[in-house]
Amino acid sequence: MKHLITPNDLTNDEVLEIFEDARLFQDLETNSLLSGKIIVTLFFESSTRTRSSFEIAAKRLGANVVNLEVHTSSTSKGETVEDTVANLNAMKPDAIIIRHKDCGLPESLKSYVSCPIINAGDGKNAHPTQALLDLFTMNEHFDGEINGKKIAIVGDIVNSRVATSNLELLPRFGLIPILVAPERFKVTSKFKTVTDLTSVIDELDILMSLRVQHERHEVIESKEVQEEQKQEYIKNYCITKELFGNREILLLHPGPVNRNIDITDEMLLDPRSKVLKQVENGVAVRMAILKKLIPFKREI
Ligand code: NCD
Repeated sequence: MKHLITPNDLTNDEVLEIFEDARLFQDLETNSLLSGKIIVTLFFESSTRTRSSFEIAAKRLGANVVNLEVHTSSTSKGETVEDTVANLNAMKPDAIIIRHKDCGLPESLKSYVSCPIINAGDGKNAHPTQALLDLFTMNEHFDGEINGKKIAIVGDIVNSRVATSNLELLPRFGLIPILVAPERFKVTSKFKTVTDLTSVIDELDILMSLRVQHERHEVIESKEVQEEQKQEYIKNYCITKELFGNREILLLHPGPVNRNIDITDEMLLDPRSKVLKQVENGVAVRMAILKKLIPFKREI
């Protein structure tokens, strides 16, 4: 049984195989590869892109999707997530996709199921499908020439599962990350880490901007301090046309974008911004992931 909890659950060959399939699925046409399969989604944290992307990917492959409304499910009556998942598993779904605020929860659920578990984000721990669609987007953009490309990951790195999973996956394909963050968002890392974005801008091929993960901040500052930090953040880390100049840098963001805090309106419209391309690629990559993890009968 293959699960996808972190990018390290896939070998480089498996990642490339997923990309090959994703390329075939890029027209996002519907097929019947997973017809008759049932996929359950369980989102305990809010989501726009990831949940709909998985649902559309599953439906494009002909599968049925059951979205469990967690706020009206038995977990709100005191049932543990483990019991909820064991009960769902007893109904023999073909995969369970889960997002939860607790780091490590999807991993611990493996022993409760007989179908693949796909991690759609666990706290700040991991978000493997986002990292895969990010890498796919870079790979397509540079026609496979990603070895040695430098990518700045900018913002709330310490609280971002997107950063964690990208830092796990991208170096395996030769990308060189540079972490750019104010002191309070830095992590101890083997990768180059700077506070000043302008000091590295000339080196970059790719820039991935991140949203400030307010929901994961343990210390809640006063309104005044929050406003001060926000203005300071915008001044130093908001991606602007002035910052990019004429440089050919691929601009990415996992979404949701906080406009004019993470990236300006103007830069979101700039052709170097591929934020919506990431979303489009996300469906194709998730189709390929579902195809990889869910056993299906090949038509002869
Ligand atoms: C991210 C997430 O939920 O981790 N969004 C996403 O899945 N595309 C990033 C975020 O919430 O900032």
